[in-house]
This record gives sequence, structure tokens and C-alpha cells, in this order.
Amino acid sequence: MPDAASTALARALAAFAARFGGRPATLARAPGRVNLCGEHVDYQDGLVLPIAIDRDCAVALRPASDGRWRIWSEDLRAFAELADPAAADAAPRATGGDAWGNLARGVLAGFVREGVRVPPLEIAVASDVPMGAGLSSRAAFAVAVATAVADALSAPLFGLPLARLCQEAEQRFAGVPCGMMDQVTSALGKAGHALLIDCRSLDVRFVPFPPPERAMLLVVDSGEHRSLADGRYAERRRETEDAARAAGVAMLRDLDESALRSMRLPQLLERRARHVVREIQRVQLAANALRREDLELFGLFMAQGHQGLRDDFAVSTPALDAIVDEARAIGAAGGAGGARMTGAGFGGCAIVLADAAKPRVQERLAAGVARRTGREPAIMRVTAAAGASVLPPTRWPGA
Ligand code: GLA
Repeated sequence: MPDAASTALARALAAFAARFGGRPATLARAPGRVNLCGEHVDYQDGLVLPIAIDRDCAVALRPASDGRWRIWSEDLRAFAELADPAAADAAPRATGGDAWGNLARGVLAGFVREGVRVPPLEIAVASDVPMGAGLSSRAAFAVAVATAVADALSAPLFGLPLARLCQEAEQRFAGVPCGMMDQVTSALGKAGHALLIDCRSLDVRFVPFPPPERAMLLVVDSGEHRSLADGRYAERRRETEDAARAAGVAMLRDLDESALRSMRLPQLLERRARHVVREIQRVQLAANALRREDLELFGLFMAQGHQGLRDDFAVSTPALDAIVDEARAIGAAGGAGGARMTGAGFGGCAIVLADAAKPRVQERLAAGVARRTGREPAIMRVTAAAGASVLPPTRWPGA
């Protein structure tokens, strides 16, 4: 939420003062996201249904007078030297401990490609979005940096074009061939709403998320953190592209299940395609269920989605399955309406849509998951929050 209570904002401001001295020219924030339905379909032109969450990455930024482009990460306690963004497209990417700066480098290079002159900059970043947990900490980082840069340089870049620039930075500078869901959600999120995004037309509709008195969304950390740059995400994306090619369509969005069944694709490709085709269909139905506040039906779609991700798409893990199984064991009677993994998978988090009238569900979930996995899980309650924004100085923490 764009208010002074956000610790990321306060930490970014304090870090800026400590590392660069004085106050920044701009303070901006962008949220992480949780995807409710539509997993691994954005890069096949599918439909997705995420929410921006009330956990932010905050960026404090000011033009620098020392001729350098430098960024400080308060969470990593490290500087990265970004080099001149006008030359960044040709410059080698940093490796090892400095590699985290590549995404910021990619964002600045994106502004240069848009024809914006990017002067030397001092940037401090602090984030409340857990890293490597499937909550889009990287999209929040990229969108927050881009939002701050656009404001400080008066560059007319926001909304979808800004999200596209951040996606390209991820693809070109960090080597992750991601879709656009995370960046669009972080840029365009709306408090109290999910986003129904058509990843083909980039049409975005807002679907009211049930009020906090009715539903609570719990994010349960599997404890397995991972990087999407390790190749498994890219492998899944490639498999879906192979499946589309074998099926003779441009994108799996163009396929329906009966056509797929009649094609007899190689087994692995058929399973990957089956998940994508079913999941795209499910998103529209899930959005309608959410709109009607039919949480029971919505929970059913969550369960079906998880099954597809586990069995056909093979991106779940035993720890994620344990969370989902425990939620199912508690059941609607105990307050756990539906559960699934969220994000790319291979670790990260599962989400549980819970009945707000039964607050004990969180305790039961923690105990049950600990029993199944031998590890007490971190659980956080999230709400649907607003997308990226720049804070006027009157609303800076401590103002
Ligand atoms: C990651 C990517 C997204 C999307 C999800 C899976 O979060 O960044 O583009 O593909 O995985 O749904």
C-alpha cells in the first residue's frame, strides 16, 4: 500500500541517506504479485488472474554528480556499478555476486532504447517482497526502478509500455524468457481487485476480490527457494513452443482440448499442452466465480489447476504438494476453501484461499504442514493492493 507505514519505503529512504547522503529526487514503489489462476500460460498468449500484493519493493533515486550509475540493495547489503546505460546493450553482463544489478542495467538500457537520455544516477532499493519465493520480487524490483526513473527524468513511460520494458530487461539482461504477467500486475494492480489479463491483446479487466471480512488469502512458503535463471523455466517454455509447433498452431491459446486429443502429440508434449489448454479455459470460469464470490467453485478451480501443474506440467514439488494436501484435508468445513502453488513453481509458495470467519485455519495449516514436512512454514496473509506509484514528498515516511 502506498502509505508511510510501508517498511520498504522507510528502509529505502534511510538507505539512500546512508549511502549517498541527503534526500532522493524520487521515491517510488511497486508490488509483488500472487497468481490466483492461469499458471504457465502467459507466454502462450493465455489468460491469467493475478493480484498485486501488499508487499512492496521501494526505490529512492537521484541524478548523480560523480558520473556513475550506482545502485545499493539494502536487502543484499551490496552496491552494483551499472555502467553507462547508453552502452549497456553492448557491454558484458555482470556475473557472480554482482549479477543482481543486471536487471537494473536492463531497465536503464530500455529507457535509452526508448530515446530517453539517462544521466548518471544514485539508486537505493529495499524490498518487502521475499526473494525467490514465487512472488515476483524481480518484477517488483524492475517496475519500481522503472517507475522511479520515469518520474525523475520526466519520461512519459507508464502502464503497459513500462511493463513491456521491464519484461525485456528480464529477458535480455537476466536470461529469463518470462511472459508479461508479473510486470503487468506490478504496474497496473488495483487495490481490492484481481486482474484478468488477456496476454494476447493485453486487455486488462479488474475483477473485485472478496472483501477481507469474507476471504483471506494465505501465502505459505515451501521453504524451497529458487532462481528462474536455472533453466527449468526456459525448458517448460520451450516444451510448450514445441507442442504448439507440433499441433500446427502459433500459440497453445489457439487450441482446444478436443482438437488436442485428436492430434496424438508425443506424450510429454501432449501433457504440457493439456495443462496450458485447460488452464486457459479455467481462468475465464474462475474469474466469473470470483466475481460472483462463489469461493467454493473458485476453490475447485484452484485444486484442478494445481493438479495440472503437478501431473501434466511437472513444476510442483513434494513440499508444495504437502501444503495443498493439508489445505484439502482441513477442507472448506475447517475454513480452507482452495489451494494451489503460485508462480513458476520448482519451489516457492502455495496459496490458500481461506474463510475469514475461521481465523484458526492459519494455525491448523501451520501445524499440519509442519507435521507433513518436518518444517514449520512461514505463512503470510496478503491483500490485493495497488500497482506501482510515485510518492509525493508529503507522503514520504517521516514527512
Ligand atoms: C514466472 C514468469 C511469468 C509466468 C509465471 C508462471 O512468474 O515471470 O511470466 O510465466 O512464472 O505462470
